[in-house]
Amino acid sequence: MNHSKSVETLFTPFEIGNVKLANRIVMSPMTRNFSPNGVPGEDVAAYYRCRAENGVGLIITEGTFVNHPDVVSNQENVPHLYSEEALEGWSKVVEGVHEVEGKIFSQIWHMGARSHVNDYSKQEITELIEAFEQAAVNAQKVGFDGIEIMAAHGFLIDQFFWDKTNARTDEYDESHPFC
Ligand SMILES: Cc1cc2nc3c(=O)[nH]c(=O)nc-3n(C[C@H](O)[C@H](O)[C@H](O)COP(=O)(O)O)c2cc1C
Repeated sequence: MNHSKSVETLFTPFEIGNVKLANRIVMSPMTRNFSPNGVPGEDVAAYYRCRAENGVGLIITEGTFVNHPDVVSNQENVPHLYSEEALEGWSKVVEGVHEVEGKIFSQIWHMGARSHVNDYSKQEITELIEAFEQAAVNAQKVGFDGIEIMAAHGFLIDQFFWDKTNARTDEYDESHPFC
C-alpha cells in the first residue's frame, strides 16, 4: 500500500449530496456540556470555528437535543436545537464556521431509555418522529449544511434495534425489517 498517496487522498475535496467539502477530514460528534440551559454561546462558536480554521473539512456537532419532554435527565448543559435562544446561538456557530470555509452538520439526539423512559406508546413515537423532523427543519433554518441523526450507543432509535431493549410486538418490533 502506498501510504503517502493514501494520506494525500485525505486532503482532496469530497461531495456529500450538494455539500462540497474541501477535504475528507471529518470531526466526530463529541458531547461537551458547555451550553448552559441548552444555549450555545460565543465560546462554543469559537471552539467550532477554530476546528474549521485549522483544516477540518466537515464538523459534526456534539449531540443536540430535539424538543421532547423525555429527551434527557440531568443534562442541562447539552445544547438544544429548538428554543429561540439556542437557535440564535447555533446561527452564530454556523456563521463562524462558514466564514472560514468550513462545513458543519448538527447531530440531533434523544437519550431515550438512557434518560428515563423505556416504554413508548405509538402516540409518543409519532411525537418523537415529529420532534426529530422539527429539529432538522430548525437546523436548516439556522444554516447548517446537514444533519446527522444520533442512532447509536443505546440511545433512542438504537434501543429499537436490539431484542434486549425492544420487547415490542407491533410494527416497531426489533425484528421488523427497516430496509
Ligand atoms: C467525550 C466524547 C463525547 C462523545 N459524544 C458523542 C456524541 O455526542 N455523539 C456521538 O454520536 N458520539 C459521541 N462520541 C463518540 C465519538 O463521536 C466517536 O464515535 C468515538 O469516540 C469513536 O471514534 P474513535 O474510535 O475515533 O475514538 C463521543 C466520544 C467522546 C470521547
